[in-house]
Amino acid sequence: MTQNSSPHPAAPRAVLFDAYGTLFDVYSVGQLAEALFPGHGQALSVLWRDKQIEYTRLVTTSSHGAHYQPFSVLTRAALIYAIKKIAIGAYSAGAKREVDLNSKEDFQARHGDQVERLLAQYQHLSAFPENLAVLRELKGRGIPTGILSNGDAPMLHAAVQSAGFAGLLDHVISVDPIRLYKTDPQAYALGEQATGFKAEQIVFVSSNAWDALGATWYGYQTLWVNRYQLPFEELGTQPTRVGSSLRAVLEFFPA
Ligand code: LAC
Repeated sequence: MTQNSSPHPAAPRAVLFDAYGTLFDVYSVGQLAEALFPGHGQALSVLWRDKQIEYTRLVTTSSHGAHYQPFSVLTRAALIYAIKKIAIGAYSAGAKREVDLNSKEDFQARHGDQVERLLAQYQHLSAFPENLAVLRELKGRGIPTGILSNGDAPMLHAAVQSAGFAGLLDHVISVDPIRLYKTDPQAYALGEQATGFKAEQIVFVSSNAWDALGATWYGYQTLWVNRYQLPFEELGTQPTRVGSSLRAVLEFFPA
């Protein structure tokens, strides 16, 4: 492991992708969210995602990971939180008086079906349009590829199948066996262990700026896929490269 990207990084030998937000579009649930909660779909899907990530950090940084729960469990918990905050917040004053936010029964009766529908949709997130072609191109060039994700194995399996990526990825690595989420260094170390390459020989690709930063700090060569013209994290370290779509990963491997 190296501390940071060197000015002359080694030619990379493998690629690891973050899953959610990078290969799979987590905001593609927005349409269903809007249908279920008119006027609040966008806000709900953003809060759901932010809360999901916040929960991964909370359980990894508290009590040495003693409160770990798999990503699918945190994803459900984050959705319930987001619905409580946004949808219930928009209730009429009368409805607010009737519903006890902290009563599981009340919540289940009013929103249980919506929770299940959104979680079912999360199993079949859309892949970004260019991703399939990029994975095929990497395979054609003989580059080992994989996913290194906070997602647990059943979630990742469902997403990979649903996007048609099966057979195009050599590794699907979940942090679940070590019960620590990215950006814990032990989570990033799984990529080296699975591929047999050192971090500096691997391109780690993420659309999540915090993940691209964590991977850069760990020692990977990194590509931040900045799909939404966002600023990068302001913590003094830059990713090795920035691209606007997954296609930018091909530039690490001149044909
Ligand atoms: C992942 C999430 C964090 O796939 O995007 O690891």
